[in-house]
Amino acid sequence: MYDAWKILVGLAIFLGLFTFAFWMNAGKAAPVPEPKIDTPEIKKMAVKQCVEDKEYMRTTHMQLVNVWRDQALRDGNREFINQKGEKYVISLQNTCLKCHSNKKEFCDACHNYTAIAPYCWDCHIVPPEEPKEEPREESKGNES
Ligand code: HEC
Ligand code: HEC
Ligand code: HEC
Repeated sequence: MYDAWKILVGLAIFLGLFTFAFWMNAGKAAPVPEPKIDTPEIKKMAVKQCVEDKEYMRTTHMQLVNVWRDQALRDGNREFINQKGEKYVISLQNTCLKCHSNKKEFCDACHNYTAIAPYCWDCHIVPPEEPKEEPREESKGNES
């Protein structure tokens, strides 16, 4: 065959170059964002905990907010009692986003990473973020 090896070498170089960006990034894929919980409301808490424990929230909050919606709207019951027996008012705006007032750095950061966009905010209001008291957190530029 006529110059087959040249074609193969060419092909190998081409593939190497073509996938170069991928190899360069292989070791440092974008890290899963660590959601920021340094909001004024959470800073005030003596024990920093969510409505359920962190692992549960991380994996199951999507179902939980649907349970909340159904319980509030179908059963007219806006009192949520968690697994520890603590009570919370059922409200996306006044409960979840009261503590997590940094929706962009919290909910959105994680959702953007996983490329999902819950449509809840078409109707539900996102409360304005309270200004942070001191801008002394570590660098702002370590995400994205
Ligand atoms: C088409 C508009 C619309 C969309 C989209 C929507 N909701 Fe609602 N939602 C409402 C309305 C209206 C109420 C009733 C408000 C009330 O009675 O306080 C409500 C109430 C709720 C409640 C109980 C009370 C409260 O204020 O939180 C929850 C929880 C809730 N929705 C969750 C969700 C979630 C989660 C999503 C996204 C997956 C979502 N909703 C998307 C309109 C919407
Ligand atoms: C009383 C304040 C408070 C309320 C209300 C609250 N959270 Fe949280 N949330 C926290 C704190 C504090 C943490 C961190 C818990 C930890 O580190 O153990 C957290 C953690 C989480 C996490 C896990 C983040 C991670 O690191 O993986 C998710 C998801 C979450 N919350 C969603 C919600 C949703 C959705 C609601 C409403 C249904 C809600 N939270 C209501 C304070 C709150
Ligand atoms: C630790 C990462 C993380 C944080 C923080 C987080 N979410 Fe999520 N959320 C997810 C993931 C991942 C999914 C998609 C799960 C799936 O597709 O089954 C999701 C799905 C949802 C859904 C369902 C969307 C749909 O279309 O079914 C809602 C509603 C939601 N999140 C609300 C919130 C709210 C409100 C907050 C902030 C208070 C929040 N999430 C914070 C990771 C997160």
